[in-house]
Amino acid sequence: MTFRSNGCGSLRTTDVDKEVTLSGWVHKRRDHGGLIFIDLRDSSGIAQAVFNPEANYESHTKAHSLRSEWVVKVEGIVRMRPKEAVNPHLPTGEIEVIVDNLEILNPSLVPPFEIAEDKEPAEDLRLKYRYLDLRRQRCRERLVLRHRVMQRARRFLDEKGFLEIETPQLIRSTPEGARDFLVPSRLIPGKFYALPQSPQLFKQILMVAGFERYFQVARCFRDEDLRADRQPEFTQLDIEASFIEEEDIYSLMEGFVRSLFLDVLGIDIPIPFIRIPYDDALLRFGTDKPDLRFDMEIRDLSYLSETDIKIFQTAPTIRGLKCQGLAWSRKESDELLEFVKNKGAGGLAWFKVEGESLSSPLAKFLKEDELKRLRSEFSVSIGDIILVVADKKKVVQQALSELRLHLGEKLGLIKESFSFCWIIDPPLMEYSEEEKAYKPSHHPFTSPKETDWQIMSISPEKAKARAYDLVLNGSEIGGGSIRIHRKELQEIVFNSLKIQEEAKKEFDFLLTAFSYGAPPHGGIALGLDRLIMMMAGASSIRDVIAFPKTQTGTCPLTSAPFPVSAEQLLELGIRILSK
Ligand code: AMO
Repeated sequence: MTFRSNGCGSLRTTDVDKEVTLSGWVHKRRDHGGLIFIDLRDSSGIAQAVFNPEANYESHTKAHSLRSEWVVKVEGIVRMRPKEAVNPHLPTGEIEVIVDNLEILNPSLVPPFEIAEDKEPAEDLRLKYRYLDLRRQRCRERLVLRHRVMQRARRFLDEKGFLEIETPQLIRSTPEGARDFLVPSRLIPGKFYALPQSPQLFKQILMVAGFERYFQVARCFRDEDLRADRQPEFTQLDIEASFIEEEDIYSLMEGFVRSLFLDVLGIDIPIPFIRIPYDDALLRFGTDKPDLRFDMEIRDLSYLSETDIKIFQTAPTIRGLKCQGLAWSRKESDELLEFVKNKGAGGLAWFKVEGESLSSPLAKFLKEDELKRLRSEFSVSIGDIILVVADKKKVVQQALSELRLHLGEKLGLIKESFSFCWIIDPPLMEYSEEEKAYKPSHHPFTSPKETDWQIMSISPEKAKARAYDLVLNGSEIGGGSIRIHRKELQEIVFNSLKIQEEAKKEFDFLLTAFSYGAPPHGGIALGLDRLIMMMAGASSIRDVIAFPKTQTGTCPLTSAPFPVSAEQLLELGIRILSK
């Protein structure tokens, strides 16, 4: 049986008078008196098929029974549509197929939602019937984009001499800061595999093995709280190379991003990307993932602690930003106060630029020169509002960073563009109040800056890492580092992190490998889902994953995770305790 001579979406006026066979799904059916029209959809697009009782009575009668999403095959002749029936929104809108023969290949139940672009059903329903959801053009286009990105990545890295090597999924833990997903071993009861949080350790071992340029489209698993840009399983473009330094990674990735955007979206991304030291990013934008599509930088206003304003005298950090074009009112100031309070700040001070002075309930507590300094700090013009938060450093950073984004959106300042930057020189470790210990900012295999080995043993939080994050429009789309490649240096870092002897044993195999001539090496991993989400202009990574999990980590389509039988548990030697 021949199902098709053409794709529905490929027919054009040049096909007029040709006999064609099309197969696909009934997208829509319309009865117009004697004529029946169906929009027939396949993966290439939509064509209009017309059933005319005078052309073929039997097919016309059958067409009455057609419903949405039935699978059919039609044979007929391509004709120009009458002028008034031309649809300029459809690539096939100038033609139609006058059907001679209709074959119903498979009927369909009534779908739980209409397969329409302009109607977005609830997400749970979309995910439960994902195969129907994916029939929508927009969903399809996103997966096509994903495919293109993957192909481009493979081609680019292959051309640069990188080898694609797979690493195992059932492994011993690789720490990336999240919880592991564990898989019980049946053959060795009581023992578990972890699913990789990343291929980090294996890619470093591949460097020891002499594969100087590695990459992998790697599935990673992290048991952490989910957000719009996080999934429990996600895909990295994972890269590692030997005898390289930071600059090599920067230029490799910039070249890749440029060729990717040019090839897939036809957009020329300017390179090199700007580099912002981590500390600077926190000061200027309140975050290490700055959205650089608009300005509105944060300024340090610690000199305000010398004023007569009590809250400024006692707060450890005082910072502010200037906002232009905000229609200032009591309501607006209350709303913004509420906004920063929700982000954890105690309050929000404001100063409105009026003529030569600043008006504010606080202005009377400031001396003339203090007001002047505040004005000059922001090079203001009339009508601008200066917003100030005084609190603990982390609270100020978080509140102002969120306020900046909120105002950027509210005032329509965020241009539609792709704004990349590198965040460099992050701290090697951070002190965790919760765990009363230093935790690696990236992972424990990251090298400190060459000059910082000494300071690391005295004040670990002061040491900077040879690490870098790639940020796009306020989202971290990649991260990596130059690694420690000498056993004794790795041990020093483990000691500074106070990694217990027991835990250290976990990485014995890596230290042993390093004893056999490990080359200097480093790498990076791009979060492909996040990158593709941004390229697609989607608002969640779920939109660019064929079968994503919900916010609670479930799969409504297959009902995973699922309870297992008592026999399976017994075989694994596992008993479930109720919490
Ligand atoms: P990192 O942990 O920074 O580095 O991860 C790299 C990138 O992966 C993406 N990402 C995620 N995407 C979706 N859902 C998640 N849960 C998730 N977690 C991370 C982010 C992130 O920037 N082994 C190192 C890389 C290296 O050092 O070479 C690593 O995994 O975009």
